[in-house]
Amino acid sequence: MLSDPAAAYRFTRAILREPAPSVVSGLRAEDRGDPSFDSFLSEHLAYRAALEAAGLSVHVEPALPELPDSVFVEDPAFVLPEGGVLLRMSAPSREEETDEIADALAAFVELTELQQGYVDGGDLLFTGREVIAGLSRRTDEEGLQALSRILADWGYPLRPVAMPEGLLHLKTGCALLDEETVLAVPLLARSGVFSGYRVVETPEGEEAAANALRLNAVMLIASGYRETAEMLSVMGYEVLTTPVTQAELLDGGLSCMSIRF
Ligand code: GLY
Repeated sequence: MLSDPAAAYRFTRAILREPAPSVVSGLRAEDRGDPSFDSFLSEHLAYRAALEAAGLSVHVEPALPELPDSVFVEDPAFVLPEGGVLLRMSAPSREEETDEIADALAAFVELTELQQGYVDGGDLLFTGREVIAGLSRRTDEEGLQALSRILADWGYPLRPVAMPEGLLHLKTGCALLDEETVLAVPLLARSGVFSGYRVVETPEGEEAAANALRLNAVMLIASGYRETAEMLSVMGYEVLTTPVTQAELLDGGLSCMSIRF
């Protein structure tokens, strides 16, 4: 039996990992300068507070200096109401993050391992009735086939979608607003990957605001995207903002810094 579609945004807990000083060497597609560790840390604290304000109990794992991107905890695992899947990451410097997140998640959810291929959690959008999965530079068909077999046991179809150039992950460019509605950058919104959903486009110049998080009654978006905040408020969403300027320098954003369940 399928669970409640609102389970895609109704959460009680989140797992985060403290950034290590090595985060300044994290992966990025384009070098726009290193983040400042102190600013990253203070934005991470604000992010944690925002999740708590949205009603989540936040569990913070210790920093892992040897794994610079390990603050982006969403990528090595995928958690649904039925359980968690430990993923296989194709970026060599991130491979070991899966074992680390397994230790953190084991206390909370039953875990299954992806057996083949590669999938990053940032490429997976759970809508409550299915999982939309981006075929990105990090996520391949073999991985999605293996994942779809696990999800089938839980009653969720997986829909693989092609990704436009320029987005690291699917959720770099989209977020769930509710079980019927997706916020997306125009490139994704107009590509047809969200057929069956209402799609709200980010205003011009505010594409980075698409990496947002619906958390219970709250829509959390990155600070600095005034038009997006106003548009969502007018649509009736309770908007909360928090800065992620330093994570953005590493192609990160709101979704990748936590696992919600
Ligand atoms: N910096 C996040 C990633 O490239 O995986």
